[in-house]
Amino acid sequence: MKVLKDDFEKPKYSFFARFLHWCFVIIFAYGIYKQVDDINQLDDISFFRTEIIFASVFLLFLIFRFFYMTKTQKTSIPEDTPKSQKFAAKIVHLSMYICLAGIAISGLLIGYFFSLGFRDELLMNIIVGTHEFFVSIIYWLISFHVIAAIYHRLKNDGVWSSMVPIWKERKINREKSQ
Ligand code: HEM
Ligand code: HEM
Repeated sequence: MKVLKDDFEKPKYSFFARFLHWCFVIIFAYGIYKQVDDINQLDDISFFRTEIIFASVFLLFLIFRFFYMTKTQKTSIPEDTPKSQKFAAKIVHLSMYICLAGIAISGLLIGYFFSLGFRDELLMNIIVGTHEFFVSIIYWLISFHVIAAIYHRLKNDGVWSSMVPIWKERKINREKSQ
């Protein structure tokens, strides 16, 4: 039998988990803002160095966050959510990690081959193409992720408030199968 439970549950993610999520959103937005528009910009040594440092910090942050989240946190998706939805959320989250790592690693590879003197060779074009491919996929995944977050907000099931500090759900509806 399905019963509706109203309560005022606290977010399930730790403060640090939420802090990491939003710090990363800012770092990512900065990465998109300062993107390389033309490969020849890398001839500027200080620009080149900044790109490499940024991509390395980005990657280390991502790896740290991945292990912190998977080892210490549990999804806030209610237990009685259909398996297909839980699976979709897992796939989208994992794909985001893979794509973000792909962007940073392919960026570092561009830097490595650029420093070896590669410019318009096939190998360089393939790596830049891969870098751009990961960028376009992440835009899709983030859009999907944000739409899903808004969907949960409208469902009032606590998922939104577990991560987002604004437009909080005050009454959380959790349908529980008994
Ligand atoms: C995590 C760090 C990075 C982020 C978030 C990032 C982001 C981006 C974005 C959004 C684009 C535009 C893609 C498009 O228009 O389809 C781009 C292109 C590019 N990025 Fe990165 N990037 C990063 C690291 C790097 C690094 C380390 C290098 C090399 C040192 C690099 C070199 C390039 C190049 C050569 C292009 C193509 C520019 C062109 O259109 O000619 N990126 N990157
Ligand atoms: C760069 C943009 C973003 C990325 C890469 C991202 C990534 C992630 C990832 C990987 C998770 C799973 C938990 C974790 O490992 O941290 C997550 C959870 C979550 N995010 Fe984001 N996020 C982004 C932006 C946003 C935005 C803009 C919103 C809201 C408008 C949002 C709302 C949420 C919510 C509600 C959860 C909890 C979902 C759950 O427990 O299953 N995220 N995010």
